[in-house]
Amino acid sequence: MQEEKKYRSQDWFGKGGKDGFIYRSFMKNQGVPHDEFTGKPVIGICNTWSELTPCNGHFRELAEHIKRGIWEAGGFPVEFPVMSLGETLIKPTAMLYRNLVSMDVEESIRANPVDGVVLMCGCDKTTPSLVMGAASVDLPTIVLSGGPMLAGHFKGRKIGTSDVWRFAEAYKVGELTQEEFIAAEACMARSAGHCAVMGTASTMASMVESLGLTLPNNASIPAADSRRRALAHLTGRRIVQMVKDDLKMSQILTRKAFENAIMVNAAIGGSTNFVIHLKAIAGRVGVELDLEDFDKLSEEIPFIANVQPSGEHFFEDLYYAGGIPAVMKELEGFLHLDAVTATGAPLGDNIADAGAHNREIIATVDNPFKPNTGLAVLKGNLASNGAVLKPSAASPHLMTHTGRAVVFEDIDDYKARVDDPDLDIDETCIMVLKNVGPRGYPGMPEVGNMTLPKKIIEKGVHDMIRISDGRMSGTGFGTVVLHVSPEAAVGGNLALVQNGDLITLDVPNRSLHLHVSDEELETRRKEWQPLNLGYDRGYVNLYLRHVQQSHEGADLDFLVGNSGTWKLRDSH
Ligand code: FES
Ligand code: MG
Repeated sequence: MQEEKKYRSQDWFGKGGKDGFIYRSFMKNQGVPHDEFTGKPVIGICNTWSELTPCNGHFRELAEHIKRGIWEAGGFPVEFPVMSLGETLIKPTAMLYRNLVSMDVEESIRANPVDGVVLMCGCDKTTPSLVMGAASVDLPTIVLSGGPMLAGHFKGRKIGTSDVWRFAEAYKVGELTQEEFIAAEACMARSAGHCAVMGTASTMASMVESLGLTLPNNASIPAADSRRRALAHLTGRRIVQMVKDDLKMSQILTRKAFENAIMVNAAIGGSTNFVIHLKAIAGRVGVELDLEDFDKLSEEIPFIANVQPSGEHFFEDLYYAGGIPAVMKELEGFLHLDAVTATGAPLGDNIADAGAHNREIIATVDNPFKPNTGLAVLKGNLASNGAVLKPSAASPHLMTHTGRAVVFEDIDDYKARVDDPDLDIDETCIMVLKNVGPRGYPGMPEVGNMTLPKKIIEKGVHDMIRISDGRMSGTGFGTVVLHVSPEAAVGGNLALVQNGDLITLDVPNRSLHLHVSDEELETRRKEWQPLNLGYDRGYVNLYLRHVQQSHEGADLDFLVGNSGTWKLRDSH
């Protein structure tokens, strides 16, 4: 018997004749009884499990808990894999493939008999890539994140990914032996889950929760905590009802939702990568969002979630203190409480009973850990389309500073010369790295927080101004100007900076200025040669021909927007 409502999947499973035979028969080889095909909501579970994405290594088990909830609510779960992006192994950078995965996700959803989708997201790029792809189809969709690792322990101290950068410096100057370095590896990654700090993965998990795409507390429950599995179960239950109610992604992803996400990101000291990914998601659903919106909307939002790298603790601690719902409760006066969420209720209802249990972890807006955070969007002749800096991770004494540029033409040049004792540099200089943008590397890697020259670290100096068209790991910190747009590889003024030029960074006035006259820049521009990147075939060639600049979200230009679930022809 057919249920009254005819779901999209019935265009496959509800068919008579040869087509219906083929669509059902082969599915039955997996032990599916016939009545599963007679009108139940079919729920796709989009799984980014991979042993090459260790942060998502527990997703096969987690998917089983989602299925329990789907079965229980009367749905029919179908799990499918998509390309999985692990930050730690993929060269040259997982970011090069974010848009490729979004295509995989979009086409896998559209082409198959699914009525709703659970997106299983974890390691950094596995969140934006899945959300982007699903948004371009716009079925009822819910996100389940994988959760953070438990904090590591090394020599009696808690550690997380942000310590990698500290260990690297200590190792460089001989304060840590090779043996200690190796011991720290196992101490840090001691449980399932993604980076334990407010890196990009935690930022992305918080982003989808504050956008309203998840059940409450999705972001911060540790991967190893049983409540993560219970949440998976509940997420499975919930997506079935979302399909019955036809609650589509586009009803959740409104301008209000994006504004909420920007404000929450400021309050938690989220990664700078947030800007690029949120811009790309907004592009898929047609929500207007300018780079300046990130700055303006976070102007009054203080830093209230004491998690590394901007704070002291770990993402699991945020969960024990009340999680993202408690953070949003503190921000109640700023947020759009009427924004629709995946629960079916407005945000205000979801957080009605939320509250902070530990003021060392979640502060009030009136008594925050740091006053102004968010993201500073800088403009000037060195970044006419903008650049970003994370004030909460920067040094106050460098926020207004003029220094002499020490230029590295690309990452190889940097690696070859940074520790040269004869490099003409001191801590008042500004390190400039070119050709690490969306096109230049290619793929915009997280190399913007260049490790300082050895001779500077040896003086006990741990921060200098660094400027590049690249990104920085969400776990990184320092006075680092990132995402300079237009990038060097397309001939932006960044490409024209020379050793000895003076640069002024003025964060209070949101300015990044190169003290070189327009005439001189024009002369230099005439001599500038574009890089020959040498990718004459394959995905990277397609990427290079179509990738947008970072201020636009670095999506492929032809992927902006969505195509919905257009009517598909049968396959036989
Ligand atoms: Fe996967 Fe940090 S490396 S989340
Ligand atoms: Mg990262």
